[in-house]
Amino acid sequence: PESAVRVVRLGAHIGARIDGVRLGGDLDTRSVATIRAALNEHKVIFFRGQQHLTEDGQYEFAQLLGNPTTPHPTVTSTGAKSLAIDSHQTRSNVWHTDVTFVDRVPQASILRAVALPSYGGSTTWASTVAAYNALPEPLKRLAESLRARHSNRYDYADEIANRSADTDRDYRREFESSYFETEHPVVEVHPVTGERALLLGCFVKQIVGVSSSESQALFRLFQDRVTRLEHTTRWNWSLGDVAIWDNRATQHYAIDDYDGGEHRRLTRITLGGPVPVGVDG
Ligand code: SIN
Repeated sequence: PESAVRVVRLGAHIGARIDGVRLGGDLDTRSVATIRAALNEHKVIFFRGQQHLTEDGQYEFAQLLGNPTTPHPTVTSTGAKSLAIDSHQTRSNVWHTDVTFVDRVPQASILRAVALPSYGGSTTWASTVAAYNALPEPLKRLAESLRARHSNRYDYADEIANRSADTDRDYRREFESSYFETEHPVVEVHPVTGERALLLGCFVKQIVGVSSSESQALFRLFQDRVTRLEHTTRWNWSLGDVAIWDNRATQHYAIDDYDGGEHRRLTRITLGGPVPVGVDG
């Protein structure tokens, strides 16, 4: 029988909603293939109405797409299988690609809305492929020649304006409890699609081989291409929604526009990936 799965594009560069799927470990192979193809093409995909999904169900579904990794290298206040992104603990209102401060950057994440504030709390994703493609040729060549050092001790002061100091201090202490630092090419070649993407985000500490002021200038030059609104899509969550993003082709930012008394909780399962490869292999 014809599959009822329908892929609805949300923009020219990034984002699609997938209708007609009930996510779980028992999903048929044809639907899984459609989901994989949509993820490669649209970089982030969304599913409505998945209230039936439990943490175990989310994990079993994740196993159909790849190998779930430990929820986070340093944050332990989390479930055995998923990382809880909880407004009482953290707000991810910085542009980032998940966990780029380790050698093997996760390939994808699967995020499920468990509790939502009564207003606000959307998440925005940006296509790092569209950002690379929009660069003029000389800047493409420059970016391809650069490497960046990523660390989990990044400069919060620069990026985060308005957090509750206590919440942030505790979370940051845990986040930085072991030090991770690694280097990646600034332009990564996607191992499946072959597309080129800018690999930056807030964990970048330094562009290698230049002064810190030159590093900041180069970072801003390329990072600003990523976050151009035309390269983004924004999702307004409802309970039971699931988002899956290709971590090798996107950055994301959780919008902190709800008050402290409001509770927001999403659970994230992350799939392991290979070491990023630049244009020279
Ligand atoms: C994340 O940064 O993975 C979480 C995004 C969100 O809280 O919406």
